[in-house]
Amino acid sequence: MVKSSKTAKLLLDGKEYDLPIMSPTAGPEVLDIRKLYGEAGVFTYDPGFTSTASCDSTITFIDGGKGELLHRGYPIDQLAEHSHYLEVCYLLLYGNLPKPAELEDFENRVTNHTMIHEQMGYLFRGFRRDAHPMAIMTGVVGAMSAFYHDSTDINDPWQREVASIRMIAKMPTIAAMAYKYTIGQPFVYPRNDLDYASNFLRMCFAVPAENYEVNPILSRAMDRIFTLHADHEQNASTSTVRLASSSGANPFACIAAGIACLWGPAHGGANQACLEMLREIGTADRIPEFIKRAKDKDDPFRLMGFGHRVYKNTDPRAKVLKRSADEVLDFLGVNNNPLLQVAKQLEEVALNDEYFADKKLFPNVDFYSGIILEAMGFPNSMFTPIFALSRTVGWISQWKEMIADPQVKIGRPRQLYLGEAPRDYTDIEKR
Ligand code: CMC
Repeated sequence: MVKSSKTAKLLLDGKEYDLPIMSPTAGPEVLDIRKLYGEAGVFTYDPGFTSTASCDSTITFIDGGKGELLHRGYPIDQLAEHSHYLEVCYLLLYGNLPKPAELEDFENRVTNHTMIHEQMGYLFRGFRRDAHPMAIMTGVVGAMSAFYHDSTDINDPWQREVASIRMIAKMPTIAAMAYKYTIGQPFVYPRNDLDYASNFLRMCFAVPAENYEVNPILSRAMDRIFTLHADHEQNASTSTVRLASSSGANPFACIAAGIACLWGPAHGGANQACLEMLREIGTADRIPEFIKRAKDKDDPFRLMGFGHRVYKNTDPRAKVLKRSADEVLDFLGVNNNPLLQVAKQLEEVALNDEYFADKKLFPNVDFYSGIILEAMGFPNSMFTPIFALSRTVGWISQWKEMIADPQVKIGRPRQLYLGEAPRDYTDIEKR
């Protein structure tokens, strides 16, 4: 971020204050209000951070108006088309696309950390079988700090690196184990001769009694889902990771906090909520009823998988996934699945509806990812864990960037207090 020569002026009680303006590489200019409280004694008010940059970052850029998402400057559609998940992980973590030897070394390092400590299996067994896999993941990832003491010192760059690789490598194993546990099947160990996506599919769908061949078309679709979810700048879960980490908490605890935040239906939980909504709609003739509810101000119902805080034109990830959904559904021969028919018709009705057009509400990534994952055979409860495992690299990249910044301070928002003015304690018998 470069300080521009421009300043904004704030006039308050007859006194003028200069607010420096920061110029980003791309995106709107940013007013620097860091000294405002010290100089003018006022706070700013922005619940939901709709106008506030909480940090500076060099990792990801979104232009919501244009529907553009860049990782280290590279457009997401190019990465989804030509790259693959582990290469995108390298790009996010280290800033540039890897040379062949660098990629090979990175892939080896990730691959060599795919197994989890054997003792952690007992931790899984402590959960109820009907636990949501996100509940299990939140607990197990947090518990990694109890198993990997040698990578919790955030002041040691080597330990930070090891913790990063461990989490990227182990997250598919943990997500697959959470799934296997909830369906009562034995855990399937990772296979290091498989690529990242194929290994995950195998750990989810293989059983010891049979051979399991990973289908390359499904593996490519899986990898694309991972790639499209890898990072999304300062979204709610990433900001949670940054805030947790600003206190100096260990990386496993911070990523567990990110997983917990992602679970909500307004964020990563939307993919599960979207499929549940499609199921509730059931048949195309009920679509108008649900569209009516979504538009009704007195009804809390929202069309899940529609709308985005930043994208007000199109979600570029959704565009890629829509194509991928068609490929996968064709390949699996499930294009006539009634649920998917409802999804397609709902999309068409909403896109042609004035309410959604006026409010710039388009299908987001969660609308199509759920459809693909459903067709691949994942239960709805696994959609958000898959989002979490994909986003782990984004959380880690942002966490590493933050820790390496010497200017970082503990995140400590202020508030607009609207409670009682000071008053004296009254004895209980006088109340
Ligand atoms: N269905 C119906 N109306 C909606 C929807 C929707 N899905 N989304 C927003 N609106 C309306 C909302 O009622 C409001 O109307 P009004 O101006 O009359 O009060 C207007 O659009 C603006 O909505 P907002 O809640 O102020 O927008 P936001 O930026 O705070 O929320 C959102 C963004 C994603 C939380 C919201 O669009 C939503 O709840 N969508 C459904 C959940 C979903 O699909 N989430 C996944 C987001 S993408 C993946 C991720 O980030 O995890």
